[in-house]
Amino acid sequence: MTNHKTVLITGASSGFGLLTSVTLAKCGWRVLATMRDLDRRTKLETAALDAGVQERIEFHALDVTNAEQIAALADLVAKRGEPLHALINNAGFAVPGFAEDVTDAELRDQFDTNFFGAVAVTRAILPLMRRQGFGHVVMVSSISGRVGFPGVSSYASSKFALEGWTETLRYEMKAFGIYAVLVEPGSFATDIWTRNAKMTAALKNPSAANAARVARWRSRIDQSAKDRADPQTVADVIARVVENPRPNLRYAVGRDARMALRLRGILPASMFEGVIIKSSGVD
Ligand SMILES: NC(=O)c1ccc[n+]([C@@H]2O[C@H](COP(=O)([O-])OP(=O)(O)OC[C@H]3O[C@@H](n4cnc5c(N)ncnc54)[C@H](OP(=O)(O)O)[C@@H]3O)[C@@H](O)[C@H]2O)c1
Repeated sequence: MTNHKTVLITGASSGFGLLTSVTLAKCGWRVLATMRDLDRRTKLETAALDAGVQERIEFHALDVTNAEQIAALADLVAKRGEPLHALINNAGFAVPGFAEDVTDAELRDQFDTNFFGAVAVTRAILPLMRRQGFGHVVMVSSISGRVGFPGVSSYASSKFALEGWTETLRYEMKAFGIYAVLVEPGSFATDIWTRNAKMTAALKNPSAANAARVARWRSRIDQSAKDRADPQTVADVIARVVENPRPNLRYAVGRDARMALRLRGILPASMFEGVIIKSSGVD
């Protein structure tokens, strides 16, 4: 099947980015799969080969914090002389740690990728989408972009910022046929809380003020790891979003994400706070 549509995906070396690349290639899309380290392409190459879609996937180097790489890639995409139907800003990571302990440098590092990286890639691609008169810009946000949870203030604040920016972008660009969309997954089994979690330094200090609470919080996170959902669900939602000519602004994905939003809608605020604190194990 081929539909001659092209998508650019950031952070395609693992997790949602990898699965979305293969899923869209299987639907006939040409995929510009970008990753900051091309040496990590093997997993996607193998998945593409297994699915028989390797010819539809191109690999490009892109660290979303690298302004020169972003400009060069946007230039390359424009010079192809073909439309770009969708951009999926997926690259991201987390800095677990209590708000009190995370340093300015760690917080800025978090924002550089999750917020400024997604914004910079989008702004580099928007002129092309404006000229062609259509395009989908999908931000892989998080339920943590709607609800704050203990232990993830850096991550949540970067995603809250992304939510505000994207909601505004949606209103500004709709007149040009460009749809900005937020996909908000709950907890899914990818590398984000393992290989890609950059713990705040204070989490490693057993005599820190929050040490005992951190230990309780970590054990709760470890216990819940087995309940993390299949990330293919998120790839499928993203694929449906880019195939939809008029997608909504927000898509919460996963039972936990939808439940958190529902509870916040129906519970009194003080009761909702209690639920969040208790479920995190920090007291
Ligand atoms: N899994 C979840 O439960 C969950 C829930 C809500 C939202 N999300 C969001 O989903 C997105 C994808 O994460 P994932 O869960 O699929 O985790 P993942 O498997 O760790 O994938 C993250 C991807 O982002 C890439 N990346 C990190 N920093 C980058 C940078 N500066 N430039 C380019 N690429 C970079 C990683 O590249 P390397 O391979 O080089 O490290 C990796 O390919 C993230 O935005 C995350 O916040 C995840």
